[in-house]
Amino acid sequence: MAVTSTKKRGKLEGAAMYPLDWLEERSGLVGGIKYFLFRKVPGDTSWWHTLGSATLTAFLVQLVTGVILAMYYKPDVNSAHESVQHITHDVWGGWLVRGMHRWGASVFIILLFMHMGRVFLFGAYKYPRELNWIVGVLILATALFEGLTGYLLPFDQTAYWATVVAININGTAPFVGPYLATILRGGAEIGPDTLARFYSIHMLLVPGALIGLIGLHLYLVVRLGVTSPPWSKDAADRPPDPEPSAPPRSGLVQPAPRAAGVRRRPSE
Ligand code: HEM
Repeated sequence: MAVTSTKKRGKLEGAAMYPLDWLEERSGLVGGIKYFLFRKVPGDTSWWHTLGSATLTAFLVQLVTGVILAMYYKPDVNSAHESVQHITHDVWGGWLVRGMHRWGASVFIILLFMHMGRVFLFGAYKYPRELNWIVGVLILATALFEGLTGYLLPFDQTAYWATVVAININGTAPFVGPYLATILRGGAEIGPDTLARFYSIHMLLVPGALIGLIGLHLYLVVRLGVTSPPWSKDAADRPPDPEPSAPPRSGLVQPAPRAAGVRRRPSE
């Protein structure tokens, strides 16, 4: 009886694993994912190290909700505002998806700064992770640009005037300013071309760039490993705290403990 059930179990396991084995043999993908999920990290990894994954989760929420919004949004000056109202009031669950995307944008940027702060305070930007810090700075600039281009899309008064201000600020940059402002506006005035341009940048260009940069960022995280906290004894190669020793024998003065690297005098 026991032999039959073991055989059955083996067969079931084989059937369940077959698609994974098939994929692994042809791509090595399963091994790659296993390596990513089960790789070694420092023993003193803490909640601070989850901020990167939290930022990634916020980014993925933006991708999913953005794709749903794009199914109903109309990037045209005459219908953009109405289409956003339609999403909010008429489409089933539209208010939730729009709210998640709108508030999620702020959550994403706040988490980005918190993650960056953790990396800075842990000194994780130092050798050999300088390149990953530079990639991070590019991600930050690209993410802020994503926020700027998205702000115009509801095409109400706030969106319009906020974009006027943002483009005018860019226009004051030395030498390149006026060209930058014209490129962003898509002409001399903010209008249909600006909206189409911002929509295409917000939907395609910037998310594509962010996906590529985040992929590179994560590759470098896996390749270089994560940094231990600055207070880590393992990372500093310091010996662990000594076990509490037996109390000194009465009447005898114990020699003071020596700092590492201090040599004894010959008389001692
Ligand atoms: C979409 C944005 C980002 C995502 C999804 C992301 C994701 C991650 C993840 C998952 C980790 C490993 C776990 C952790 O340390 O939290 C990490 C580490 C790191 N990130 Fe980011 N990150 C982003 C933005 C940034 C930014 C803006 C910077 C700096 C300007 C940055 C610099 C770094 C560095 C240097 C490490 C290595 C940290 C270490 O070795 O301890 N990241 N990132």
